Amino acid sequence: MRLKDKVAVVTGAAQGFGYGIAETYAREGAKVACLDIQGEAAKAAAAKIGKGAFGVACDVSRAEDVRTAFEKVTAALGPVDILVNNAGTSHRNKPIMEVSEEEFDRVFDVNVKSIFLTTRAVVPQMRAKGGGCIINIGSTAGIRPRPGLVWYNASKGAVNLGTKAMAIELAADKIRVCGVAPVAGETPLLATFMGEDTPEKRAAFKASVPLGRLSTPQDIADACLFLAEHDFLTGVVLEVDGGRCI
Ligand SMILES: NC(=O)c1ccc[n+]([C@@H]2O[C@H](COP(=O)([O-])OP(=O)(O)OC[C@H]3O[C@@H](n4cnc5c(N)ncnc54)[C@H](O)[C@@H]3O)[C@@H](O)[C@H]2O)c1
Repeated sequence: MRLKDKVAVVTGAAQGFGYGIAETYAREGAKVACLDIQGEAAKAAAAKIGKGAFGVACDVSRAEDVRTAFEKVTAALGPVDILVNNAGTSHRNKPIMEVSEEEFDRVFDVNVKSIFLTTRAVVPQMRAKGGGCIINIGSTAGIRPRPGLVWYNASKGAVNLGTKAMAIELAADKIRVCGVAPVAGETPLLATFMGEDTPEKRAAFKASVPLGRLSTPQDIADACLFLAEHDFLTGVVLEVDGGRCI
């Protein structure tokens, strides 16, 4: 077991990449808290994962929710060793002039402000414990943007760079901060990126990946496992993208 007895928090773990990460961490021996705005789905995901996984309702864009969720996690499992900031959202694929202010705010609150909030919750615990690992799920969108997703791309650029900025500042505390930048993946969010889920759109997305397929939750979970266990890696933003960013 590669993460035996580590305490891990995965946000957005009710489905998609987050579920895959939580399931993989639990299989490798971690005690996992699954946080999600869909509270019942988070609890159902944790029950399906088993192995002591624990579901908590939490909107990661809200300070009060994050504070109480981390209090629940530490009371149940102890201080956090590994935090995966995976919860994310996007405005539907559309021209820049059609994105509303509410959509812009939501994308930045869920994708970027959430990391500000969870950092404030875990860094004191990790400092007290002598170290820890934070993994932020960025995106190839923040490296090689696609049209129609301007503010999603920009939010993921902030996640990718924020990861490196956190890594350099927190290295003195032995808190490692790494990122994963997935290419378009087989999750419920994909339809939002494509604008409409048609065979033609799927074929076009696949054709943009040199290795000829979309990413899967297991691809992303394997990268998160590797980054969590290797204690000399920090500031790495690992592109899991079948060559999309070359
Ligand atoms: N699927 C892709 O093509 C793709 C590609 C690159 C990066 N990503 C990133 O991967 C991460 C996971 O995406 P996914 O594809 O699994 O999406 P998804 O929509 O399948 O799952 C996201 C999960 O996050 C939860 N969530 C959304 N807003 C939340 C909030 N405010 N608080 C708590 N939980 C919230 C949702 O309820 C859902 O369970 C996101 O950060 C996304 O931007 C996805």
